[in-house]
Amino acid sequence: MVTIAVPIEGETEPRAAISPETVKKYIALGCDVRVQAGVGVRSNVLDADYEEMGATVHASLADTLNGADIILKVNNATDEELALMNDGAIFVAMLNPYDNADRLQALASNNIKAFSMEFMPRITRAQSMDVLSSQSNLSGYKAVIDSAAHFTQAMPMMMTAAGTVPPAKVFVMGAGVAGLQAIATARRLGSIVTSTDVRPAAKEQVESLGAKFIAVENDEFKEAETAGGYAKEMSDDYKQQQAELVAKHIKSQDIVITTALIPGRPAPRLITEEMVRSMKPGSIIYDMAVERGGNCALSKPGDIINVDGVMVLGPLNIPGALSGNATSLYAKNLFNFLSLFIDEEEGLKIDYEDEIIQGTLVTNDGKIVHPRLTGEDS
Ligand code: NAI
Repeated sequence: MVTIAVPIEGETEPRAAISPETVKKYIALGCDVRVQAGVGVRSNVLDADYEEMGATVHASLADTLNGADIILKVNNATDEELALMNDGAIFVAMLNPYDNADRLQALASNNIKAFSMEFMPRITRAQSMDVLSSQSNLSGYKAVIDSAAHFTQAMPMMMTAAGTVPPAKVFVMGAGVAGLQAIATARRLGSIVTSTDVRPAAKEQVESLGAKFIAVENDEFKEAETAGGYAKEMSDDYKQQQAELVAKHIKSQDIVITTALIPGRPAPRLITEEMVRSMKPGSIIYDMAVERGGNCALSKPGDIINVDGVMVLGPLNIPGALSGNATSLYAKNLFNFLSLFIDEEEGLKIDYEDEIIQGTLVTNDGKIVHPRLTGEDS
């Protein structure tokens, strides 16, 4: 029987790696599921909810991890967890692999088979396992709701006897999963939305949501998407042209939501201090990339900076603020992934030739094995 264990996350992580729904599914696959007491509390799931679906609840971490073949988490393992994991155990989480070299080495040294969910290949078969998509989508929504809450004006246009309230102008920088949801949410609230991206595929998607696309559409732009669907780092010349375009546009915007990321690199700097200062007092900049260095020069992780009336927000763990939804989607992503290699009759059966396994396996047989981390691939 395959034993799955789910410990409690650290203090700053409200999400959990398992939901009652997925407990039921693991049990149906013939697994034994062990959760640490309180694991779902910050996502509004009680121990009794897990128990009802067939999990056992354990008071201590040591008890929870005892005999586990597979350990599921949201974030990387702590030293204490590592010390308690079985030799050869499977560990599945968002390992934050580019910023966590020491932790990955520790996983390898402890002979853990670790899978990093952020590395999920962007292929159709893996869509239901794509944690970046499931979490970014929620973040994009929350970014607009939070920005609107800090904005001292209304989002939609209102025609009243006392006069007309103008609609808010929202500019979304980066139209990937988070950006597209931000556009859709801002549109639903009645604001006027513009958006920019360096990938040409984004243009049609932005326009189909009723927003206006703004970008430097030169030859470099036409080739700015990798085979994996992500953005490339742009040339200095492109960045200069983009900055000029953005500088002109941003002055008239009320809310700017930035989502731009490049895998394995610091987030591109898209908003300079000068641009922030060109905006009207009361405007909002919501930097969703702050954890990866920030798209705005003035944003600070976990802080709100007031720059002569312009509020620059640098929120941390945005999906964690929607922990109920985030937990249930993340847990489902993990289940879809694990069901690739848990067989009802034969137990654990990992196919190392499978593109999804190869794409996500980070440590194996005592070594870091992923080509993006060993330098064999960029
Ligand atoms: P991401 O989170 O890595 O980046 C966010 C956005 O920022 C991207 O659209 C990127 O092009 C943009 N960006 C990067 N540098 C920029 C710059 N200098 N200026 C403006 N924008 C910049 O990307 P995300 O959200 O993960 O998605 C990227 C693409 O992958 C999307 O087209 C999405 O639809 C696609 N995708 C495909 C999946 C599949 O086929 N299984 C699953 C999920 C996403």
